[in-house]
Parts: sequence; C-alpha cells; structure tokens
Amino acid sequence: MSTPMLFTPIAFRDVQARNRLMMSAMCQYVAVDGFANDWHRTHYASRAVGQAGLISLEMTAVHPLGRITPGCLGIWKDEHVSGLRSIAQGCQQHGAKVGVQLGHAGRKGEFFDQGLVAPSRIAFADKWPLPHELTQAEVVALVDSYAQAARRANEAGFDYIELHAAHGYLVNQFSSPLSNRRDDAYGTDRPRFLRDVLQALRETWPRHKPIFMKVSTIERDEGGAQQDEVVARVAGLREYVDLVIASSGAWRRPAASASTPFPAIRCRSPKPSAARPACRARRSACSTTRCWPKKY
Ligand SMILES: Cc1cc2nc3c(=O)[nH]c(=O)nc-3n(C[C@H](O)[C@H](O)[C@H](O)COP(=O)(O)O)c2cc1C
Repeated sequence: MSTPMLFTPIAFRDVQARNRLMMSAMCQYVAVDGFANDWHRTHYASRAVGQAGLISLEMTAVHPLGRITPGCLGIWKDEHVSGLRSIAQGCQQHGAKVGVQLGHAGRKGEFFDQGLVAPSRIAFADKWPLPHELTQAEVVALVDSYAQAARRANEAGFDYIELHAAHGYLVNQFSSPLSNRRDDAYGTDRPRFLRDVLQALRETWPRHKPIFMKVSTIERDEGGAQQDEVVARVAGLREYVDLVIASSGAWRRPAASASTPFPAIRCRSPKPSAARPACRARRSACSTTRCWPKKY
C-alpha cells in the first residue's frame, strides 16, 4: 500500500517538512512579560517527538499591549529571542519544522487599564472598553513592529512565520467592515493594513523561508466578511503568502454554542493578595481586567 499523502513530505520555499501534520497555534497563557519558560520548551518539543511535521507556536505579540492576556508569549523586544530560540531548537532537534505566529490583539486584548487600540473607536463587546482609534502614524509604527518581530523570529531560528489575520484580532479588525469605519486610506481600502504588514514581513523575512497566514474565512456576524470576499482577498496575496490556514469566526460565538468553549480555563489574579484574592471565576464570566487564565 502506498504511503497516505498525510505522511509524505511537503516543501514551502526551502523548508521541507517530514509530513503534513501541522500543530495549530494554541495559546498557553503561562508566559511572564512575554518570556518563554520551561513549559513552552517541553510542550512544543513533545509535539515534535510525537512526529508533527510543522509546529506553529501560539500567538506571540509584536507589541506589549497586543497580547491577548498577560500570559501570552511576546516578541516585541530583543530579550525575547533567546527563549524563543530554545523552543525552536527543541522542536528542530526532533525533526519538526517550527514557526512563530505573529499577532496583535487590538481591541480584543485584556489590557483594559492601559488602553486598547483598534482601527475605529468601536468596542469589541459588552464590558469591553472603547479602544483608541489608531492614528496613521501609529498604524505605520505597528507595521514596523511586525517587521521587527520577523527579524527577531529569524534570529531565533524559526523555519516559518505565521501571520495571525483571523479570529477578530487586529489584522482582522482592519479588514472587517464591522470594526473598520475609517475614512482614510486604511478604511477606504480595508485590506491595506494586511498588505502593508505582509509587505514589511516579506522585506524582512529571508526569501528562502515561507510565510503562512491564518484567516477567518467567514465572520459569522451579519454584515461581516463572507467567504467569497475573503477568498478573493487571499487570492490576491500569492506573492507574499505560501500557505493559507483557513479558520472561521471573528467576533462572537455562534448562538448554538453560547457557553464557553474552554470551560476548564479559569482566571486568577496575577498577584493575589488579601486585598485582591485570587479570582477563580470562569474566564468568560470574569469581569476583573487584570485576571489571567490558569489551566487546571
Ligand atoms: C486553548 C486554545 C488556544 C488557541 N490559541 C490560538 C492562537 O494562539 N492562535 C490561533 O490562531 N488560534 C488559536 N486557537 C485556535 C486553534 O488554533 C484552531 O484554529 C481552532 O481550534 C479551530 O480549528 P480550525 O481553525 O481548524 O477551525 C486556540 C485554540 C485553543 C483551543
């Protein structure tokens, strides 16, 4: 019997994966100040031992306020490189190709007291604060944050980078009519931020290494981007992107699954004290802005 295609090698530019099993990016919520630790090294290397061909690190923030939670990995400063390099090497030693997912949460982050940013001054959801509308200069600076993150990703030795353009985070916020009501060039041409980021990544990231991109192919909300539009947009990005990872959803959970999809994830305060005891609420039910999730 011939080998099933799933277990055959696949190449993207000069990077050849041993098979087509890809581990999807999944936040671990255990970093401190964006730094990787032993959990990350063990967790990702274990998947390489398990024979994954490609391993995508969780969404890793290009800016400190771009983290989803305080426990998210970061790549916004050079000091993050050595920890990320140790994760990459741990995966590569066991035969996997490894990439880092570059992201910014925008208005969907949890740093309520330090200010969230977005294309337009529209809150993500009830109880979420109104974000600051990015000025054009701030948008340009953010594009550069992605480029600097790509430079660091290369210094850390990753085989590929994956742009997080899905799930209602910043890039998705720019491309969606539900969150981008700007009247400048980033609003009249909503995919422009995505193109600027990809252009900056392609200029910074080595030509022989691939760039992947994760998109929400359908936003599920009335008035949100639909599949035809997303597919057409993505088709125009072939010069930048070597693999499109098709996900879905952007803003809300579908009504049919209104309960939390992560029932085991609960919150805790970063510094529990007598004055502020540890929060044990379900994350979805917790209104404490400084909470971060802990896995049980
Ligand atoms: C705990 C957890 C953390 C996740 N973190 C991320 C993430 O950091 N980046 C990302 O793009 N997707 C993340 N996801 C979503 C998954 O990568 C994947 O997209 C999702 O499980 C649905 O699969 P689908 O995209 O094939 O529909 C996470 C999922 C889970 C369960």
